[in-house]
Amino acid sequence: MKSFRVDLRSDTVTTPSAAMRRAMADADVGDDWFGDDPTVNRLQERAAEITGKEAALFVPSGTMANQIALRLHFRGTGHLVVAEPLSHVASTEVMSSAVLSGIAFRTVPGDGRGRITAEQVRAALEPDEPYDVEISDLVCLENTSGHAGGTVMDVEDFRAIRKVAEEAGVAVHLDGARIFNASAASGVDVAEYAGEADTLMFCVSKGLGAPIGSLVCGGADQMREGRRVKILFGGAWRQAGVLAAAALIALEEGPGRLHEDHERASRLGAAVAEIVPGSLDPGSVETNMVFADTEPLGMTPLEVTDRLEAQGVGASVVSGKVRMVTHVDISDAGVETAIAAWRSVAAR
Ligand SMILES: Cc1ncc(COP(=O)(O)O)c(C=O)c1O
Repeated sequence: MKSFRVDLRSDTVTTPSAAMRRAMADADVGDDWFGDDPTVNRLQERAAEITGKEAALFVPSGTMANQIALRLHFRGTGHLVVAEPLSHVASTEVMSSAVLSGIAFRTVPGDGRGRITAEQVRAALEPDEPYDVEISDLVCLENTSGHAGGTVMDVEDFRAIRKVAEEAGVAVHLDGARIFNASAASGVDVAEYAGEADTLMFCVSKGLGAPIGSLVCGGADQMREGRRVKILFGGAWRQAGVLAAAALIALEEGPGRLHEDHERASRLGAAVAEIVPGSLDPGSVETNMVFADTEPLGMTPLEVTDRLEAQGVGASVVSGKVRMVTHVDISDAGVETAIAAWRSVAAR
């Protein structure tokens, strides 16, 4: 088992707070297959309220949440989903949706920061007459982008894409695994982003600090069918109220402190940029992620993560770069430790 002094591999590595552990121990529970776990139901109602959607479903992972949503919009095997190639659904999950639902992707290359434009989406949704075999059921957007910089999508760009999709009669799903980070950085309410999507998912297990869980949100009829798909995909997780109790705390206490993670990421990014000139533009750090190019060091990203690891600092390799993610368990001192580790790597 790996153990780090400072674990920046992801914001999924957080451990539950004392308050979460107490709430988990005391949680009222029932069988979620039957829909009678009171804590799960309370969490789902709260998620629907926050996102401004009619209903929500608590599921074990962000992947399952996306896959339920994709399945809800799916109209036929071999149909396409329009998405940016670095997005989680079009990269990590590409085989999940192929296996579970027979869905393929029409990828639209973004600006290097995971963002696509309404004009690109319009072109991607144009029918391929006279053959008419390429049918898109859905546009899937990601905010923030987890593989392309933790980038925030502009709400106006969102609106423009939604308009284009609506004109083409195609729904929009938002992979909002880190939508609360987007909201903290932009000042745009989560409900405003959600208002531009037919369905969305967000994770409580990432920046918000809960140990496990994600929520799919959408219309009441969609979530009724979504509940069936959740069971179909093996997600009927019985007394899940134990986890919903921690998720409720994450949802109330998590969003208000995300700016601290963003400030620490910004400080870390600025320091790495100074230690390794050319590794990153400090202005590219918009939320809780720092992506550093290791070419200026003459090392592969893996060599750098190995050397950081030797000093007790965990980082991961994502999109050909070293990715470091700040979260609730990273303190100011942790950031200083990571900076010192980079200094030592660069000095060799
Ligand atoms: C943007 C995005 N969507 C979806 C997921 C999937 O979440 P999970 O790991 O809970 O399946 C991730 C995971 O990191 C992600 O970054």
